[in-house]
Amino acid sequence: MVPLKRRKVACSLDPGDNAPTKFPQLVLFLLERKMGASRRAFLSRLGRKNGFQVEEAFSERVTHVISENNSGDEVRTWMDAQGRAADAQLLDISWYTESMRAGLPVDIQDRHKLQQQQVNQAELLLFSVPAYACQRRTTLVNHNTALTDALSLLAENAELSEEEGRGVAFRRAAAVLKALPSVVTSMAQLEGLPCLGGHSLRVIRDVLENGASHEAETTKQSERYKALKVLTGIFGVGAKTADRWIREGIHTLQQLRESAQTLNRAQQAGLDHYDDLNQPVSQTEADAIGDIVQKAVACVLPGAQVTLTGGFRRGKDTGHDVDFLITHPEEGREVGLMPKIVSWLESRGFLLYQKTTRNSYLESMDGPGRPASNMDRFERCLSIFKLPDVEPQGTKEGPISAAPQKRWRAVRVDLVVSPISQFAFALLGWTGSKLFERELRRWAGHEKAMSLSSHALHDNTQSRYLRASSEEEIFAHLSLEYIPPSERNA
Ligand code: UTP
Ligand code: MN
Repeated sequence: MVPLKRRKVACSLDPGDNAPTKFPQLVLFLLERKMGASRRAFLSRLGRKNGFQVEEAFSERVTHVISENNSGDEVRTWMDAQGRAADAQLLDISWYTESMRAGLPVDIQDRHKLQQQQVNQAELLLFSVPAYACQRRTTLVNHNTALTDALSLLAENAELSEEEGRGVAFRRAAAVLKALPSVVTSMAQLEGLPCLGGHSLRVIRDVLENGASHEAETTKQSERYKALKVLTGIFGVGAKTADRWIREGIHTLQQLRESAQTLNRAQQAGLDHYDDLNQPVSQTEADAIGDIVQKAVACVLPGAQVTLTGGFRRGKDTGHDVDFLITHPEEGREVGLMPKIVSWLESRGFLLYQKTTRNSYLESMDGPGRPASNMDRFERCLSIFKLPDVEPQGTKEGPISAAPQKRWRAVRVDLVVSPISQFAFALLGWTGSKLFERELRRWAGHEKAMSLSSHALHDNTQSRYLRASSEEEIFAHLSLEYIPPSERNA
């Protein structure tokens, strides 16, 4: 929103500023939709200074409608809604800015014209989805992978460049498309959908019109993106470290190995097991790890329960790691459990690496005073498992050699221990997807004045915690329809 004062100034026409009309045959109108009031006012003044007639209001007089980030169909829909039948040309802002630069109306080329699809409105499949991902059912069936792949790649690139806001915007746009019941064929179908900003719409249009997003393709090919991918593919290496290395000229694993960089224990393990850890984990492997964890837990604390969370709980058939949540039905019995599990696994040679962090969550300290923190404070073990081969022999590629065959592989495993009183919140928080979680917290905060974490739900209006012993109860507290894990793949 432009503050009222500024808006008034921006909209008032100062006739003194206007040059005499040089092009009487042209009557221009700039569409405010998606351009914004202040940019429109600025561009209108610029036009008038250059001797163009730029109308403030839309009317039958208008010969050219100029818009930015709108499709022809969107502009036509807007014009129809004005109830004035203007027979105007629909042009992209590029024609206007080029004309401003030239000081006269430049020839109208095809690329300036907004394309209008001759679709029968009755046949046009219009989509409608709610604004928050936690209000939608998103299965693993995605009808728009060409679009969501491009947007996800740009999201990933933004995240790797530590541009979180841009990353979230692309993730939200991709999530909206993932929730659509069929394939998108025209921009007009996206009319009114939430979370599709100008940049995302340009990417979508590019894919629909040209079969690929130019921006996504050039990003994918860029040296920086490739280096960031390789380096953050090392367990223990985040965007910051990768960026520092790139600035020091390290772009590949080979260069890293030859450099004098000191690696911490996690990064060294990550580098040692690079290929294994970058190969997706299968369901069979996840099940095999589940059996091992189950056995460890049953041995050290009979009665304790192990639950598979993360992507595998959502029904994905591969993952980058395997996530487990461990609890005991009797509150307090879970205290001290993690070190015992870790010793059991370690003594049997199942761990190539592990780092345990202690639980530090205290309701009295972390409660109302510090809402909306999404940092988890459970007792958590980040580990790399040494998993004996479970996939049938022969699925591994590579030449047959005399060298002894490796009969195991490294797999990332996340173990989390939660007291039973927080179990439902932990289960909801660790099932994901990441965007679904983010949207749940945004919904809680913005729509319900509540703070949701993987530990608790706090009602800020009533200043009290809302208890829950199942995920269903948490959705109910949040006035949301229950969404099962398989439909949280936003
Ligand atoms: P993952 O990163 O494991 O993602 O986090 P995933 O959905 O299982 O996907 P892949 O297949 O492994 O790539 C699982 C859930 O755990 C939460 C995330 O929000 C996500 O929902 N999580 C993860 C945390 O709450 N805290 C963390 O530190 C890490
Ligand atoms: Mn996971």
